[in-house]
Amino acid sequence: MKLFSSVNDVKDVTALVAEALHLKQDPYAYQHLGKNKTLCLVFLNPSLRTRISTQKAGINLGMNVIVLNIDKEGWALELQDNVIMNGTTVEHIKEAAAVMGEYADIIGVRSFPGLKDREEDYSENIFNKFVEYCGVPVVSLESATRHPLQSLADLVTIQELKTISRPKVVLTWAPHIKALPQAVPNSFAEWMCKADVDFTIAHPAGYELATEFTQGANITHNQNEALKEADFIYVKNWSAYEPYGQVLPGNEDWMLNNKKLEVAPDAKVMHCLPVRRNLELADEILDSARSVVIHEAGNRVWAAQAVLKQMLEAL
Ligand code: CP
Repeated sequence: MKLFSSVNDVKDVTALVAEALHLKQDPYAYQHLGKNKTLCLVFLNPSLRTRISTQKAGINLGMNVIVLNIDKEGWALELQDNVIMNGTTVEHIKEAAAVMGEYADIIGVRSFPGLKDREEDYSENIFNKFVEYCGVPVVSLESATRHPLQSLADLVTIQELKTISRPKVVLTWAPHIKALPQAVPNSFAEWMCKADVDFTIAHPAGYELATEFTQGANITHNQNEALKEADFIYVKNWSAYEPYGQVLPGNEDWMLNNKKLEVAPDAKVMHCLPVRRNLELADEILDSARSVVIHEAGNRVWAAQAVLKQMLEAL
């Protein structure tokens, strides 16, 4: 594998999930693959889970790992082409990415959307420029429109915890006070549509995701109907796709609580984290045995390790 930016970069999703679960059983079996190889993780935005789990995954594979918080520690990057750099930017992404490629065998990039200009965000301009100019394999640590390492970990978690062969999985919108990207729900939807699950998306009117990510999903505005007999409920806020990046008024009653879960007595509750308690998800769920959010976050290591292993094997 040379690029991991979406589920479309994966030849065999089932095999990649199996690989992650195999690595969970035997984390250090492939340390020879990463010997004398360098992984550079570049963050343009904050992170806890992605940063540490991907570092840990690289270390487990025997790699040397460098983390650069380029938004705080690097030169201010110019992202546009054909500009006179007489403003605040100091280094063009062409040179910055190419130089990083001289130091690293694999690069990871996190770059959030601005949520102002949909065309710009959905073009994945920043992520694609890293891919174009760095000259080495690139793994997405969450881009403007997708978070594939999260989605792989989510699928690994479902595969591990499911009690029937084809579980019902429901992605349900949750309230939030800030405008959040669509990357996690886009990506989760895209991966679930390729997995052997019965997949439903529930959201209030106005929060439709881009159709390119939801082909094959059942989509409803009726949360209660969607939750019935669910095996996994994935809770996530996102801002509107149209009007782009907006938080629409109302919908506070979409927060998941125990009352809502009465129609899904066996459901396990997932969230990518970080989560705002009692805004997105009630304490009574997060602190109960039904929440698998910590288990899910733990699986981030094995998801990242499976991807890095395939990249190392292709070097
Ligand atoms: N879920 C996730 O990506 O967490 P971080 O933003 O903390 O990396």
